[in-house]
Amino acid sequence: MICGGRPGNRSIPMRLVVRLVFYLNFADITQPRQFQRNNMADNQKHLTPREIVAELDKYIIGQNDAKKQVAIALRNRWRRMNSPKDMQQEIVPNNILMIGATGVGKTEIARRLAKIADAPFTKVEASKFTEVGYVGRDVESMVRDLVEQAVNMVKAAKRETVKERATEIVEEIILDALIPPVKDATPQNSFTGFNIDNTPEAPMSKSDQELNEKTRDRFREKIRNGEMDERKIEINISQSSMGNVGMVGPGMDEMAMMNIQEMISGMLPKKSKKRKVTIAEARKILLEEEVNKLIDMDEVKEEALKKAENTGMIFIDEIDKIARRTGGGGSGPDVSREGVQRDLLPIVEGSSINTKYGVLKSDHILFIAAGAFHVSKPSDLIPELQGRFPIRVELNSLTKDDFYQILKEPKNALTKQYEAMLESESVSLSFQDDALEQLAEMAYQINLEVENIGARRLHTVMSHLLNEFLFDVPDVIGPNAQIVVTKEMVQEKLSDLVQNKDLSQFIL
Ligand SMILES: Nc1ncnc2c1ncn2[C@@H]1O[C@H](COP(=O)(O)OP(=O)(O)OP(=O)(O)O)[C@@H](O)[C@H]1O
Ligand SMILES: [Mg+2]
Repeated sequence: MICGGRPGNRSIPMRLVVRLVFYLNFADITQPRQFQRNNMADNQKHLTPREIVAELDKYIIGQNDAKKQVAIALRNRWRRMNSPKDMQQEIVPNNILMIGATGVGKTEIARRLAKIADAPFTKVEASKFTEVGYVGRDVESMVRDLVEQAVNMVKAAKRETVKERATEIVEEIILDALIPPVKDATPQNSFTGFNIDNTPEAPMSKSDQELNEKTRDRFREKIRNGEMDERKIEINISQSSMGNVGMVGPGMDEMAMMNIQEMISGMLPKKSKKRKVTIAEARKILLEEEVNKLIDMDEVKEEALKKAENTGMIFIDEIDKIARRTGGGGSGPDVSREGVQRDLLPIVEGSSINTKYGVLKSDHILFIAAGAFHVSKPSDLIPELQGRFPIRVELNSLTKDDFYQILKEPKNALTKQYEAMLESESVSLSFQDDALEQLAEMAYQINLEVENIGARRLHTVMSHLLNEFLFDVPDVIGPNAQIVVTKEMVQEKLSDLVQNKDLSQFIL
């Protein structure tokens, strides 16, 4: 339905729905696509839900429901950013709970989604957290990780914009080390210093200066061409003042730690050290330094906070592990699990969190939680947390046919990965179709009989199949060889294992 399943919106009068539907259709007709596109805020790609699904299809087979839901969630962010300012504050993301067995694509979908959106993304395991007051990671650390990620992204983007300028500066520094520039010879500047025997240095004459410029130009060219990369020069390198101070102890949370570290490193004077390095090395070291000097960190922090607040995604894996098992009583680990759930509430709902880079409001971060829920059920989560993940999607178990396609279709398909690896040794590897069918069938069978680990089974089966080739190339199987994997080959290498359950438990 159109109203997006917001809890609390119990019933919407039919007439309103009809009108809304009509309005939406009408809007679609009257607003040509071109116009909508031009209207988009920045130059980043803003895909429509269908385009997002199409993009996800390139990597993930099946799981259409989940793809659809995440596509809507992503597009809704763009819709929010393009709605009136006062409304923007009101629109909250509909967080998603993915339910599905291991290895069916939960993490993969979320990760790809973040890539498509160019959004800061962190994945955390719910079971790693401990309740406030206990030693271990506190839940707020997930938000700090997200900001860190955003800072890296913004910094990388800014880096590109200043790189050219920094390269120029670095070139001059290297040049200065090779051929020091001469002082100006005009009368007011004529006194340039003392010689070693304390007599005033003679100012450079005009012609000397020109000569110096010419030499510098010649060397500049050589440095650019990399002709002098091996030559050693002496440069000043500023020392990064300190690493981590080892002071974490019980009772001190990560935030306090960070503040102390910042404070101490701020107080220590920045030292610089002379080092003799090759020009190639100097270029690398100095470029890093100059880029950092040119990037305005305050700007980065501000942009990164905004980016994390408005486009950040946090993927909370293994949420089922912190759910209470029915009949679990109220003692031991269950108490702490519930504590973690309670700690999660304010973050998911929206609160202000202190980070190294400033205060971040988590209201508009998209949370995607995932779990297999074999033992526990979503209803075993405390009700308040259930309510904060209004969209539920179930991911299907993968079929034989899915396996076949997973082996073959995705851009990063396993077959393509192995082909590329052997290609690097000039060996061509290819798979016949019925070989892939056979592989899929076997993987499926082992999942049924031994343990269902989803598409990850394909990795184990494939590596077992190809192991010998991988070992023999290039010593025994030389360049320009062709390996064609046939159905018989697959059967020969794997069928014993598949039939012998005891063996396959260990090997596949
Ligand atoms: N539907 C799918 N299409 C293509 N590849 C898939 C699919 N499902 C899983 N894979 C592949 O299987 C591997 C594991 O998938 P993923 O990490 O998404 O599992 P998961 O559902 O998050 O499992 P877990 O609950 O154990 O975390 C990845 O390498 C992924 O590429
Ligand atoms: Mg996962």
